[in-house]
Amino acid sequence: MRNFAVLTIALALVVAAGVVAAPQSGSNSVPPPWAFGFATPLTPGAAAPAPPAAPAAPPPPDTTMHRLPGSQFSFMLNQIRDQYGPADWFPGDHPQMPDVVAHGKRDQMVAACSLCHYPNGKGRPENAGVSGLPYSYFVQTMMDFKNDKRKSSDTRKANTNRMISFAKNMTDDEIKQAAQYFGAIKWSPWIRVVETDTVPKTRIAGGMFLVEEGAQAGKEPIGQRIIETPEKTEDTEMLRNSHSGFIAYVPPGSIKKGEALVTNGAGKTTQCAVCHGANLQGLGPVPGIAGRSPSYLVRQLYDMQVSARKGEWTDLMKPVVAKLTAEDMINIVAYTASRPVGESRTSGGGR
Ligand code: HEC
Ligand code: HEC
Repeated sequence: MRNFAVLTIALALVVAAGVVAAPQSGSNSVPPPWAFGFATPLTPGAAAPAPPAAPAAPPPPDTTMHRLPGSQFSFMLNQIRDQYGPADWFPGDHPQMPDVVAHGKRDQMVAACSLCHYPNGKGRPENAGVSGLPYSYFVQTMMDFKNDKRKSSDTRKANTNRMISFAKNMTDDEIKQAAQYFGAIKWSPWIRVVETDTVPKTRIAGGMFLVEEGAQAGKEPIGQRIIETPEKTEDTEMLRNSHSGFIAYVPPGSIKKGEALVTNGAGKTTQCAVCHGANLQGLGPVPGIAGRSPSYLVRQLYDMQVSARKGEWTDLMKPVVAKLTAEDMINIVAYTASRPVGESRTSGGGR
């Protein structure tokens, strides 16, 4: 039980540092809407919005064949978005996908993992990057989804609700196959972090921020938000190009403030490296947080703070998040997203 030993040692270190569970300051009473892909805050107690009505007469199928540089394939839009076998533009990128990753399970309405997380597991800000996660963490977090220990604090977030139902409808073997597959693909650079006080105006489509074009285009203050948006709108939104990454606009000064919190706790939290590894790229069963989607990370920090996420291993994160304000979370993830990944990974071993 090497994994268990690592966690126990980590917990002992935290206890020794005397940082365990100060009560939450209560400053973050509703989920930060930008991180969950909404323009307005959740109104507690409000009914979930009705799903958009299907168009009265669906448009005739678009038979245009689309292509991408570097890929030998061409696909129609309905193939790109097929829930049970979406386009794989770059099969040479990754090992052979297990059936559940490539096709899901139509009879149980489990959509292919590769649809949302992409065949290479890089994912999108409204879901999650799933490649390079430790095998045992991947399996554990799927069990947490399955056992209702991992929900979204913003109940409007429909794709997290779908993720939960996929986990519930997967066998243990399918979960293991997916964990093995995505775990074997190393995490690599995917998000470019830019500090700025103004951002392009955006609209939200299915939880993702897209830069406005034409008459709607313009700039607006970033405020206390991170705006994560595709490098190339069409590549991401229409073609689901798994080689086309994201830009994360973060507030000026946030990376430096985040560095203080991450590296020495700044009196509010615990050094992340103790558990997440010296370069934040993961340690033993603890997942990497370097170079990963900052919006996704804020959702997790917030969900853990309010116990919407309360999995088997989440107790180790409780003291870490207890005192963080919404602004601290922005600063922390601006820093972690800007950290290098890949080549600099060293093998374990603390600081
Ligand atoms: C409809 C889109 C969608 C599909 C299809 C999908 N997921 Fe997810 N997945 C999500 C969302 C959304 C989240 C969580 C985002 C959140 O709550 O912030 C997520 C999160 C995850 C996580 C947690 C990552 C982490 O770092 O903790 C894992 C693991 C995962 N998915 C595995 C899978 C597997 C395996 C499949 C295929 C059976 C799959 N997903 C299919 C949308 C999807
Ligand atoms: C005592 C060990 C420990 C410390 C210190 C720690 N973490 Fe964690 N962290 C974990 C564990 C274990 C998990 C997995 C939690 C779970 O499965 O619910 C985790 C999960 C996370 C996640 C969710 C990852 C995902 O893929 O969903 C984020 C984000 C995170 N930690 C950020 C941080 C930050 C930022 C710091 C420092 C300010 C930090 N952690 C300090 C142990 C720790």
